[in-house]
Amino acid sequence: MSKKTMTLTDNRNGNTYELPILDGTVGPSVVDISTFYKETGMFTFDRGYTSTASCRSEITYIDGDKGQLMYRGYDISYLANEKTFLDTAYLLLNKELPTAEELENFSEEMKKRSFIHEGMKKLFDSFPDRAHPMAILSAGVSALSTFYFDHLDIDTPQEYTEMANRIIAKIPTLAAFSYRYSNGLPIIYPDIKKGFTENFLYMMRSYPHNYVDLRPIEIKALDTIFTLHADHEQNASTTSVRNVGSTHAHPYAAISAGISALWGRAHGGANESVIRQLEMIGTVDRVDEFIARAKDKDDSFRLMGFGHRVYKSFDPRAKALKAIRNDLVEELGINSELIEVANKIEQIALNDDYFISRNLYPNIDFYSGLILQSLIIPKVMFAVIFVIGRTPGWIAQWIELQEQDVIKIARPRQLYVGTQDRTPEY
Ligand code: CMC
Repeated sequence: MSKKTMTLTDNRNGNTYELPILDGTVGPSVVDISTFYKETGMFTFDRGYTSTASCRSEITYIDGDKGQLMYRGYDISYLANEKTFLDTAYLLLNKELPTAEELENFSEEMKKRSFIHEGMKKLFDSFPDRAHPMAILSAGVSALSTFYFDHLDIDTPQEYTEMANRIIAKIPTLAAFSYRYSNGLPIIYPDIKKGFTENFLYMMRSYPHNYVDLRPIEIKALDTIFTLHADHEQNASTTSVRNVGSTHAHPYAAISAGISALWGRAHGGANESVIRQLEMIGTVDRVDEFIARAKDKDDSFRLMGFGHRVYKSFDPRAKALKAIRNDLVEELGINSELIEVANKIEQIALNDDYFISRNLYPNIDFYSGLILQSLIIPKVMFAVIFVIGRTPGWIAQWIELQEQDVIKIARPRQLYVGTQDRTPEY
């Protein structure tokens, strides 16, 4: 069978180059330019990698035009509606959904490993009050490498599994402790009778002698948020994890880098901005004014939680969360001005030609912000919640990278536009 190629002509000299075309199982084909520099003496230029596939992957597939997201071939709505976050984490790591027994064992592993070394409390103690939980979490994950150094150099599937279980199980504890310490609150240890998601909410909201009782709908809502964030292909934080992983740095360093990348407001901070904006709008009677501002070409104001770079028909994650938001508000009897403001904005945007013609639908951050607010999670923890959800995805991507035959260190080139050959002055 003849290989598919693309012919490229250099109009400066008429030279032609045959570039191989590679097909995936679904989605756009790619032009293989790995020998491009060797053959042409030129680099390619793609700021922000908008046209660049940086790896082969079997983990996650996104079709932005169709509004489709799949983990290991399973549609996200199936996973969000029918499965738990631990099912999804297991799927990402092991390529298959767990049987009932495998899920039970995985869940027990998570409980058993959810405690952190007592020595780490000194680390938490050393941060000042009001330190941002994302900073503490990132430092905490990096510090895991000083307590669990048997995982600094690993290369067998058993070692990968042990490392994955350890990090995924400890992240919620580190996350809850980050919040409690930054607010001077007593820490609540994990309760091994509770499931993964319930345990995190319990550690966030309880006080000694006042252990909170959580409603199943609250646990389901947060569990679904974790599931919907579990992976999203080669986004900025995942690319950071892979870049660090490509240097053979240990997984704690790679995950810590992922957390740092996620912290930026262009990545993990959007749902916090949604709530801040709704609070700024404040009352239902001010909504029209802000809708008008969002539509005004001369105003830089944008409606937070609307639109998406990749999803151009709808965000499938938002669809899954919308129903849960409705159930939660109804069951908890939430009746706040903020919810009313959000409802009015949503209704206008879904029916207004400005938003419809530009495919500006509510995205995942619109609903996750509202849900987290209803779960009494402080805004400063929203990005931390994203980290808990995304950790299995980062680890699955790290493992996939390590299991490749050849690991190429990530090392892009540049278009140099600085000065040259300057004469030193003596
Ligand atoms: N409010 C009002 N107008 C908007 C908005 C918005 N939120 N988003 C885009 N537009 C308009 C924009 O002004 C432009 O109009 P025109 O064609 O008249 O010039 C048109 O829609 C296309 O905008 P764009 O900036 O080219 O679209 P993009 O695909 O590059 O941007 C986006 C995507 C998410 C950055 C943008 O929609 C936005 O800023 N949204 C608000 C922030 C937000 O909710 N971010 C979270 C995204 S989900 C993150 C995740 O997946 O984790």
